Amino acid sequence: DWTMENFIDLEIAKIREQVGDRKVLLALSGGVDSSVVGVLLQKSIGDQLVCIFVDHGLLRKNEAQQVMDALGEFGLNIILVDAKDRFFSKLAGVSDPEEKRKIIGNEFVYVFDDEAQKLDGIDFLAQGTLYTDVIESGTDTAQTIKSHHNVGGLPEDMTFELIEPLNTLFKDEVRQLGTTLGMPDSIVWRQPFPGPGLGIRVLGEITDEKVEIVRESDAILREEIAKNGLERDVWQYFTVLPNVRSVGVMGDGRTYDHMLGIRAVTSVDGMTSEFARLPWDVLQTISTRIVNEVPHVNRVVYDVTGKPPATIEWE
Ligand code: XMP
Repeated sequence: DWTMENFIDLEIAKIREQVGDRKVLLALSGGVDSSVVGVLLQKSIGDQLVCIFVDHGLLRKNEAQQVMDALGEFGLNIILVDAKDRFFSKLAGVSDPEEKRKIIGNEFVYVFDDEAQKLDGIDFLAQGTLYTDVIESGTDTAQTIKSHHNVGGLPEDMTFELIEPLNTLFKDEVRQLGTTLGMPDSIVWRQPFPGPGLGIRVLGEITDEKVEIVRESDAILREEIAKNGLERDVWQYFTVLPNVRSVGVMGDGRTYDHMLGIRAVTSVDGMTSEFARLPWDVLQTISTRIVNEVPHVNRVVYDVTGKPPATIEWE
């Protein structure tokens, strides 16, 4: 009988057999796939697993710490790399979306490689490749690192054997696996988050100030969605900064400040989507809080477009 418990026992045995007493490297993104791989490997080979988590400075509020805490509970050995300055200096002055994606993806690989070079005696690279990635490889899923390593991002003097324990599973099975491994809902049911992070939610050039506006408003949006128990009803929900200013009035003064967009969509696989019918009163609370709590925002709009014709992200 195929059960998740059997799958876990078999995979653990397989991984132990394959790895022996050697070492495995894993790039953690904080997403469900790489996190589940991490916990499964930790259960299989313990300290022979080393994880690298690259913080590109475009993560959500407190995200790096939350990932470190949540996975630290499972005993994972994680090297957290604060690479914000590297990413931001490469991105300075760049406003084209595809150019931004390319810079972020490449820098990710460079940072990862630099860290990997410092480690001795790594023989394996573990990846959260899913069955769907195997059958349609090369899509823009949430694993920047994955696609980049697949196209040969690692220096030639580093040769790894690959370990891909999820490559026979679908997404819903990975979530089931995570839950069976005792992982919390905050990881297992995490909404999709793009590799380039908040970098593609600040439209145009990326600056500290703009990222801060998106990060703070996103935190408020997520808090209210959670408070109202809507997390499982919505596929993805986030804020975007279109870099447009408009006139407003606050206190006794006229303001001329940023407009902020809210995007919340329902979807099955991200290929098509509809805007989520969020309750008006929830939207009102979110809007009021954002304007009151996030400096430089004086207007909030809700995106009511489906995909197609719009995409889920704005860039
Ligand atoms: P779009 O905007 O194309 O998004 O409708 C579909 C899904 O893909 C995610 N997305 C990305 N994921 N790198 C990623 O890892 C990217 O560059 C990227 N662009 C979009 C998006 O968040 C949504 O889940």
